[in-house]
Amino acid sequence: MTEEQNSLDLLIRHETAMKQLYEQYAEAFPEHRTFWANVAAEEQKHANCLQGLSVNDSLRKWFMNDGRFKKLAIGGSLEYIEKQIERAKNAPVSLVEALSIANDIEEALIEKQFISLNISGPEEIKSVMKGLVADTQRHKKMIAEKLIFHKREAR
Ligand SMILES: [Fe+2]
Repeated sequence: MTEEQNSLDLLIRHETAMKQLYEQYAEAFPEHRTFWANVAAEEQKHANCLQGLSVNDSLRKWFMNDGRFKKLAIGGSLEYIEKQIERAKNAPVSLVEALSIANDIEEALIEKQFISLNISGPEEIKSVMKGLVADTQRHKKMIAEKLIFHKREAR
């Protein structure tokens, strides 16, 4: 199996892409800069935590093994995020639209991360994933609340 196919690398790329998207939104919406910048900083933190697992060879191997993490199907989500980054770079996106996109990404990720919690894996992995799930749920809630607020405002 090539390095590229390691699902841990894919997870790291996914967190990094989320950070880049939210940074893009922070730039696009100066009035909501703090909101987006804070979420972006947490996605960077997740990428760092996963990177921490990645330096341990036996943990890396665990992510390589059979289909455990293939269920995460994170690849499709990564492509979607990358497309949204390009889109936000090239044309203005409305705040409600940006919040809807972020809401969808976080929601889809919660389901995918939950799968990983049911796997009997090393404690280090479980503890990182637990933190990721908790933060993602918090992000989803924050984003959904802001989305509802601005949807009303936009009417
Ligand atoms: Fe998040």
